[in-house]
Amino acid sequence: MLLQRMLKPQHVLVLVLCVSASEDFDWTKSERGSFYYGTFPTGFSWGAGGSAYQTEGAWDKDGKGMSIWDVFAHKKGKIFLNDTGDHSCEGYYKFKDDITLMKDMKFNHYRFSISWPRIFPNGIKTDHINEKGIKYYDDLINMLLDNNITPIVTLYHWDLPQVLEEKYSGWQNVSMVNYFNDFANLCFERFGDRVKYWMTFNNPWSSAVEGYETGEHAPGLKLRGTGAYKAAHHIIKAHAKVWHTYDTQWRSKQKGLVGISLLADWGEPVDITNQRDIEAAERYVQFYMGWFATPIFNGDYPQVMKDYIGRKSAQQGLGISRLPVFSSQEKSYIKGTCDFLGIGHFTTRYITQKNYPSGRGNSYFTDRDLVELVDPRWPDPGSEWLYSVPWGFRRLLNFVKTQYGNPMIYVTENGVSEKVQRCTDLCDDWRMQYFKDYINEMLKAVKDGVNVKGYTAWSLLDKFEWDEGFSERFGLFYVDFLNKNKPRYPKASVQYYKRIISSNGFPNQREVESWKRKATETCSSSNQLLAADPLTSHMEMVTEIVVPTVCTLCILLAAVFLMFLLRGRF
Ligand code: NOJ
Repeated sequence: MLLQRMLKPQHVLVLVLCVSASEDFDWTKSERGSFYYGTFPTGFSWGAGGSAYQTEGAWDKDGKGMSIWDVFAHKKGKIFLNDTGDHSCEGYYKFKDDITLMKDMKFNHYRFSISWPRIFPNGIKTDHINEKGIKYYDDLINMLLDNNITPIVTLYHWDLPQVLEEKYSGWQNVSMVNYFNDFANLCFERFGDRVKYWMTFNNPWSSAVEGYETGEHAPGLKLRGTGAYKAAHHIIKAHAKVWHTYDTQWRSKQKGLVGISLLADWGEPVDITNQRDIEAAERYVQFYMGWFATPIFNGDYPQVMKDYIGRKSAQQGLGISRLPVFSSQEKSYIKGTCDFLGIGHFTTRYITQKNYPSGRGNSYFTDRDLVELVDPRWPDPGSEWLYSVPWGFRRLLNFVKTQYGNPMIYVTENGVSEKVQRCTDLCDDWRMQYFKDYINEMLKAVKDGVNVKGYTAWSLLDKFEWDEGFSERFGLFYVDFLNKNKPRYPKASVQYYKRIISSNGFPNQREVESWKRKATETCSSSNQLLAADPLTSHMEMVTEIVVPTVCTLCILLAAVFLMFLLRGRF
């Protein structure tokens, strides 16, 4: 900590890159490709996750109000193939089946989110509480606990009640702080006797940048250069308020923890000997995770954000910085509001410095003065942005340890998607490889001394992947979205992940090397099952549509024929 105070952040990064880590686990020097055989500490928690809008479906059932995602997805042209989360995996109805899947995999925890408009249909406590929504989450939580699976609950995974967006411009407005606090407080009151791990926000970076800067996500606003900063400012305040509410009103009774889940890609300097690249890579991470983590752990925005956005705002002739400012009271109120840090991590970028002259076209992206690059040799099995770079994970985790005083970490998201659209191949070799390599890097980080307590594979099921609709499948389980029953089929990675869980890591080379083969043996028969599924859907169509239609026609014809006969008679 003392070193951190004396050095500038960029020096800290150099320091991290050069001298950190214990001797036998020097994460900077060790061969990037080398595999480490060993296990996680006893009690390490394994699980998978999903979120309300991505999996629940039942978008307008049992008194649920509209969220910004319901409205956004229904606008033509916003989502790939105009898909919506209206039905998705029908998790609202099928959660019992899903818990059976989790039990079979011997999960220690399951991560899900609560849909705010399912509880407060109009966003506001005083309007009305939807008891049916409460019952759904009660049942889900109870059944998880009955099966010894710990619920890890996110309060906000992007589905703001639409009313709040329409009336107040959503996260652009500071009034969200109190509305969100009311919602969180009710969740603590109604579920907190059983839920002990809370996360206020999931990946607020996306809510701010994609929701209010690029407009790719709901509510779809393009307030370049200001919208994201303002949204983030209110989100950070809302997070702190909810943490204090728990701390003062519920902690002594309920004895739970409140954290936040931040998404963070790792940024590696293109040229490790070039100071400008090193600083640019540091900026990349600070503008990403540091934007939220630094206020929460250290009390204010990263200095580098204040410097860059402040300077560019001044050059634009603005009287004040586009990055809002916390008062000193706010800083001390926000600092330290994190019992554990959730980390969502998928990929890495190489970073180099690039100046963007300040002008009217400034945005969050140009404020950073950098360029993101990828190594063409990195595997990119799934989503366009997702390259498999396992060593970046270890670096990121060590960075968190160094920057924020070695906090307790839960990995809240990590996983990979399928490239092929509507793919029916359950033998997901690349996903097994991704999990193997990323979890191994996490194991190395634990050996480095990073305080990682649990790992959440993303995701349990294939699900609605935001603006990409159903075209990107992250699930351990394949979901047949064309079938109205939304059946789930295990991919080979289910077997693979199961073995990692039951061994609590990677016990020895001989055993680990057999896992892939064993997992692939079972997936080919599941593939055949799935191949038969279009037939099942066809049969359903025959029994549910064709047969009744033909019968009705027959009855009508018979009636006409009878009338004809009777007329002839009389
Ligand atoms: C992070 C988001 O939190 C999650 O909802 C999404 O599925 C993954 N990224 C993959 O894109």
